[in-house]
Amino acid sequence: MSQPGTISRYTTAQRINHWITAGCFILLALSGMSLFHPSLFFLTDLFGGGPYTRAIHPWFGVVLLVSFAILFVRFFHHNLWNRDDTAWIGKIDKVISNHEEDVPDVGRYNAGQKLVFWSMTLLILVLFVTGIVIWDQYFFGFTSIEVKRVAIAIHSLAAVAIIAVFIAHVYAGIWIRGTMGGMLHGSVTPGWAFRHHRKWLRDLARGR
Ligand code: HEM
Repeated sequence: MSQPGTISRYTTAQRINHWITAGCFILLALSGMSLFHPSLFFLTDLFGGGPYTRAIHPWFGVVLLVSFAILFVRFFHHNLWNRDDTAWIGKIDKVISNHEEDVPDVGRYNAGQKLVFWSMTLLILVLFVTGIVIWDQYFFGFTSIEVKRVAIAIHSLAAVAIIAVFIAHVYAGIWIRGTMGGMLHGSVTPGWAFRHHRKWLRDLARGR
């Protein structure tokens, strides 16, 4: 239930799903970075030392995959690309400088959010597939050492990319005032919707 005078943006189940995914991602990033470079090895202390970190990291990945898959099913149709998104990206300088007068109205998500959504989807798939190849505990015999070497390189590059996407996602959530409230409490103000997602507000008003 949203507060009177506010608009519901996320249900409780959607928010729980999102925050489980976010929590898993942070645990994955911390445990992954600790295995990535000796200078970050101290982070293994968070997980009970090197062997435990090595053992738990892939399981965080499995939970993230399942949690993100549910998030994906819930939100992918809101993230389909349309012509307005291409026009919006073309005016990104106006969006950043807060001169949004002739920027196309935005639906439930803007083009930047959609790019984050599809990048996360692609990178999670790459991380999962390459992660399985290098999960020696269960899958050592299925691939050669050469294949594992390539998989490790791709896994590390994809991890660096998804951490960059994650930083952009969190930064955008904080930068646009009122956005975080939607994911924390489930609702946003009509002013926020009018300013940032006018087409979505119009659709809601029409009962769509
Ligand atoms: C501390 C970390 C995170 C914070 C603070 C955060 C914050 C937010 C906020 C504020 C929104 C609402 C945006 C809106 O309604 O316009 C959102 C939506 C969303 N977040 Fe996160 N998030 C975090 C981590 C993640 C992670 C790790 C993932 C996926 C791997 C993720 C996936 C999503 C998705 C799929 C949506 C719905 C937007 C869409 O479908 O495009 N978030 N997040």
